Amino acid sequence: MWIAVLHGPNLNLLGSRQPELYGHTTLAQIDADLIRLGGELKVRVTTSQHNGEGSLIDALHEAADADGLLINPAAYTHTSVALRDALLALNLPTVAVHLTEPNQREFFRQIDLIEDIVSARVAGLGAASYSEGLRKLVALLRKRAKKPHL
Ligand code: DQA
Repeated sequence: MWIAVLHGPNLNLLGSRQPELYGHTTLAQIDADLIRLGGELKVRVTTSQHNGEGSLIDALHEAADADGLLINPAAYTHTSVALRDALLALNLPTVAVHLTEPNQREFFRQIDLIEDIVSARVAGLGAASYSEGLRKLVALLRKRAKKPHL
Protein backbone atom coordinates (compact mmCIF):
# COMPACT_ATOMS: atom_id res chain seq x y z
CA MET A 1 0.00 0.00 0.00
CA TRP A 2 1.45 3.37 -1.09
CA ILE A 3 0.71 6.57 0.83
CA ALA A 4 1.93 9.79 -0.79
CA VAL A 5 2.56 12.58 1.72
CA LEU A 6 2.58 16.07 0.20
CA HIS A 7 3.53 19.27 2.00
CA GLY A 8 2.66 22.71 0.65
CA PRO A 9 4.43 26.07 0.74
CA ASN A 10 6.67 27.28 3.57
CA LEU A 11 6.53 23.95 5.39
CA ASN A 12 10.20 23.45 4.46
CA LEU A 13 10.83 26.18 7.06
CA LEU A 14 9.27 24.25 9.94
CA GLY A 15 11.47 24.35 13.01
CA SER A 16 12.38 28.01 12.52
CA ARG A 17 9.11 29.35 11.06
CA GLN A 18 6.94 30.99 13.77
CA PRO A 19 7.80 28.26 16.30
CA GLU A 20 5.25 29.70 18.75
CA LEU A 21 2.59 28.55 16.26
CA TYR A 22 4.13 25.66 14.39
CA GLY A 23 6.52 24.22 16.99
CA HIS A 24 10.19 23.31 16.79
CA THR A 25 9.93 20.06 14.85
CA THR A 26 11.53 20.26 11.41
CA LEU A 27 9.98 18.88 8.24
CA ALA A 28 12.83 16.34 8.02
CA GLN A 29 11.83 15.04 11.47
CA ILE A 30 8.16 14.88 10.51
CA ASP A 31 9.02 12.97 7.33
CA ALA A 32 11.31 10.56 9.20
CA ASP A 33 8.56 9.91 11.78
CA LEU A 34 6.01 9.25 9.04
CA ILE A 35 8.31 6.83 7.24
CA ARG A 36 8.99 5.00 10.52
CA LEU A 37 5.27 4.88 11.34
CA GLY A 38 4.60 3.68 7.79
CA GLY A 39 6.99 0.79 8.49
CA GLU A 40 5.05 -0.08 11.67
CA LEU A 41 1.74 0.07 9.79
CA LYS A 42 3.24 -1.89 6.87
CA VAL A 43 2.61 0.79 4.25
CA ARG A 44 5.05 2.54 1.91
CA VAL A 45 5.29 6.25 2.62
CA THR A 46 6.83 8.78 0.22
CA THR A 47 7.12 12.46 1.08
CA SER A 48 7.67 15.67 -0.86
CA GLN A 49 7.34 19.40 -0.24
CA HIS A 50 6.39 22.04 -2.81
CA ASN A 51 6.42 25.80 -2.54
CA GLY A 52 4.81 26.45 -5.91
CA GLU A 53 1.15 25.76 -6.61
CA GLY A 54 1.96 24.24 -10.02
CA SER A 55 4.66 22.06 -8.52
CA LEU A 56 2.21 20.78 -5.88
CA ILE A 57 -0.35 19.99 -8.60
CA ASP A 58 2.32 18.19 -10.67
CA ALA A 59 3.25 16.15 -7.58
CA LEU A 60 -0.41 15.22 -7.13
CA HIS A 61 -0.59 14.02 -10.74
CA GLU A 62 2.51 11.92 -10.13
CA ALA A 63 0.80 10.37 -7.11
CA ALA A 64 -2.20 9.23 -9.17
CA ASP A 65 -1.31 5.56 -8.56
CA ALA A 66 -1.03 5.96 -4.78
CA ASP A 67 -3.57 4.21 -2.56
CA GLY A 68 -4.07 7.30 -0.43
CA LEU A 69 -2.90 10.88 0.07
CA LEU A 70 -1.89 12.68 3.23
CA ILE A 71 -1.63 16.37 2.45
CA ASN A 72 -0.96 19.62 4.23
CA PRO A 73 -1.58 22.12 1.43
CA ALA A 74 -0.67 24.97 3.84
CA ALA A 75 -1.82 28.35 2.46
CA TYR A 76 -3.17 26.77 -0.75
CA THR A 77 -5.91 25.22 1.40
CA HIS A 78 -7.49 28.66 1.53
CA THR A 79 -6.88 29.85 -2.02
CA SER A 80 -6.39 27.11 -4.59
CA VAL A 81 -9.21 26.00 -6.86
CA ALA A 82 -6.49 24.19 -8.86
CA LEU A 83 -5.69 22.09 -5.79
CA ARG A 84 -9.38 21.24 -5.33
CA ASP A 85 -9.68 20.30 -9.01
CA ALA A 86 -6.57 18.08 -8.84
CA LEU A 87 -7.89 16.25 -5.77
CA LEU A 88 -11.26 15.77 -7.47
CA ALA A 89 -9.52 14.46 -10.60
CA LEU A 90 -7.40 11.99 -8.62
CA ASN A 91 -10.35 10.88 -6.51
CA LEU A 92 -8.14 9.12 -3.94
CA PRO A 93 -8.84 8.66 -0.24
CA THR A 94 -7.26 11.80 1.18
CA VAL A 95 -6.61 13.06 4.68
CA ALA A 96 -5.85 16.78 5.06
CA VAL A 97 -3.66 17.79 7.98
CA HIS A 98 -2.69 21.07 9.60
CA LEU A 99 -0.33 21.67 12.49
CA THR A 100 -2.51 24.52 13.75
CA GLU A 101 -6.32 24.74 13.67
CA PRO A 102 -6.89 27.28 10.87
CA ASN A 103 -10.54 27.66 11.94
CA GLN A 104 -9.31 29.31 15.13
CA ARG A 105 -7.03 31.76 13.32
CA GLU A 106 -7.52 34.74 10.95
CA PHE A 107 -10.78 34.86 8.96
CA PHE A 108 -9.03 34.09 5.66
CA ARG A 109 -7.73 30.81 7.08
CA GLN A 110 -11.28 29.78 7.90
CA ILE A 111 -11.96 29.40 4.18
CA ASP A 112 -11.10 25.81 3.30
CA LEU A 113 -11.54 24.92 -0.37
CA ILE A 114 -11.03 21.18 0.12
CA GLU A 115 -12.69 20.27 3.42
CA ASP A 116 -15.85 18.96 1.76
CA ILE A 117 -13.98 16.65 -0.62
CA VAL A 118 -11.40 15.02 1.68
CA SER A 119 -12.04 11.81 3.60
CA ALA A 120 -10.92 13.30 6.91
CA ARG A 121 -9.17 16.32 8.37
CA VAL A 122 -6.80 16.42 11.36
CA ALA A 123 -5.78 19.84 12.69
CA GLY A 124 -4.37 21.55 15.73
CA LEU A 125 -2.17 18.78 17.12
CA GLY A 126 1.16 20.22 15.98
CA ALA A 127 3.46 17.65 14.37
CA ALA A 128 1.23 14.90 15.80
CA SER A 129 -1.47 15.93 13.27
CA TYR A 130 0.60 14.11 10.66
CA SER A 131 0.98 10.82 12.57
CA GLU A 132 -2.69 10.93 13.58
CA GLY A 133 -3.60 11.66 9.94
CA LEU A 134 -1.53 8.73 8.66
CA ARG A 135 -3.13 6.33 11.17
CA LYS A 136 -6.59 7.57 10.14
CA LEU A 137 -5.85 7.18 6.44
CA VAL A 138 -4.47 3.64 6.79
CA ALA A 139 -7.44 2.59 8.97
CA LEU A 140 -9.84 4.00 6.38
CA LEU A 141 -8.07 2.23 3.50
CA ARG A 142 -8.06 -1.09 5.38
CA LYS A 143 -11.76 -0.73 6.20
CA ARG A 144 -12.53 -0.07 2.51
CA ALA A 145 -10.43 -3.04 1.40
CA LYS A 146 -12.69 -5.34 3.41
CA LYS A 147 -15.84 -4.20 1.59
CA PRO A 148 -16.28 -6.43 -1.48
CA HIS A 149 -18.05 -3.87 -3.70
CA LEU A 150 -15.87 -0.79 -3.11
C1 DQA B 1 -1.10 25.32 8.02
C2 DQA B 1 -2.15 26.40 8.26
C3 DQA B 1 -2.23 27.34 7.06
O1 DQA B 1 -3.22 28.34 7.30
C4 DQA B 1 -0.90 28.03 6.84
O2 DQA B 1 -0.95 28.82 5.68
C5 DQA B 1 0.24 27.08 6.80
C6 DQA B 1 0.26 25.93 7.69
C7 DQA B 1 -0.90 24.42 9.26
O3 DQA B 1 -0.32 23.36 9.10
O4 DQA B 1 -1.31 24.78 10.37
O5 DQA B 1 1.22 27.31 6.10
O6 DQA B 1 -1.52 24.48 6.96
